Amino acid sequence: MRSILLTGGNGYIGTHTCVSFLKKNYKIIVLDSNVNSSPISLKRVKEIFKLRKNSQENIIFEKGDIRNEIFLRNVFINAIKRNSPIKAVVHFAGLKSVKDSVIDPLSYWDSNLFGALCLLKVMNKYKCKTIVFSSSAAIYGKNIKNPIEEISLIKPISPYGDTKVAVEKILENLFLSDTKHEWRIANLRYFNPIGAHHTGLIGENPYDVPSNIFPYICGVAIGKYKKLNIFGNDWPTKDGTGVRDYIHVMDLADSHLSAMEFLLNNEPQIINLNIGTGIGTSVLELVKIFEKVNNCIIPFDFYDRRLGDVAQLIANNKNAIYKLNWKPKKSLEDMCRDGWKWKKLNPNGY
Ligand code: NAD
Ligand code: UD1
Repeated sequence: MRSILLTGGNGYIGTHTCVSFLKKNYKIIVLDSNVNSSPISLKRVKEIFKLRKNSQENIIFEKGDIRNEIFLRNVFINAIKRNSPIKAVVHFAGLKSVKDSVIDPLSYWDSNLFGALCLLKVMNKYKCKTIVFSSSAAIYGKNIKNPIEEISLIKPISPYGDTKVAVEKILENLFLSDTKHEWRIANLRYFNPIGAHHTGLIGENPYDVPSNIFPYICGVAIGKYKKLNIFGNDWPTKDGTGVRDYIHVMDLADSHLSAMEFLLNNEPQIINLNIGTGIGTSVLELVKIFEKVNNCIIPFDFYDRRLGDVAQLIANNKNAIYKLNWKPKKSLEDMCRDGWKWKKLNPNGY
């Protein structure tokens, strides 16, 4: 049986995607340098599978950096030696803080762009030509019409978003240059993943003060932070606070499995897909639902708008639903309940 390689598979979205692939009995190889994750996350993934009787445990962990080509080649060679060559890759590995990318763009270009180049060169060498890439809604321009379509204006406002556009471009060049017509590529443009696996065993594990809203709300709920600062109450939205398309991380994880199966079962192609629910939720609505579902109070203050923020970001997810055998199933209540369960059980992360 051939394997699927998940680069960055120890991270937040990666661990949940491991669960999706293992549930369908895939053999997976997780490659991670642990620059932003803990190896314990994979132990937890295995724990989830001990709870499920008929699922095999089928994970191999390779610790290292995607920018190290020799290491990468060895990952592919080791898989061949195990009689389980790598059939396809889900590429999560990279740095993801918008704020840090403004402060230190070189590190972002190095990890996200140079890392992707190293990976693609080695994939090419070992004739592994199927990839699902973690792109982001951060590639879209400001002030574009919602819901956002895949053909909407691409105009990122941060170095982080620039690196995602650049990798998408390289993938497009690669596809177009491929005279043998073998590359199969899916760029998944995630909107706002939140929540955790329903067991509370795996979840988001920020090492610093979180800049994203959901882990911050959880931090307030657990008593680590006094209150939430809501960045602006004068946006042109339903209640003046920012509107986003929050998607349960397990729905997002499942979209990788569906995209991979779609690519493997269809003719070679390159596809760009928005992965969101298509539903817009304001900050105030999110806070209210979190309080209701988890029976707690989240104190907040209104604060200035955050630099680089937009009023609304909502996905038009019709292409993903139409092409992939996938649709988001979980509600905002599920996201709030599961995300809080993870935080309660793991107040300090892994
Ligand atoms: P994460 O930081 O939790 O996971 C990324 C993983 O990659 C980490 O385990 C990290 O240790 C590893 N990694 C980073 N650089 C590496 C390198 N050079 N070599 C090997 N491993 C390396 O982030 P996440 O939230 O799981 O995001 C996964 C991917 O999805 C990222 O590419 C991110 O840009 C993208 N994305 C995330 C979001 C989000 O809201 N979380 C939104 C849009 C896109
Ligand atoms: C941010 C990034 C985006 C990235 C995404 C996922 C910026 C400007 N954008 O998106 O590029 O793809 O994370 O990693 O950083 N909010 C508060 N108080 C907080 C935190 C957030 O009010 O403490 C508000 C924001 O103003 C926004 C909403 O909550 O309206 C969601 O914010 P966040 O979780 O940071 O996600 P995005 O801004 O969509």
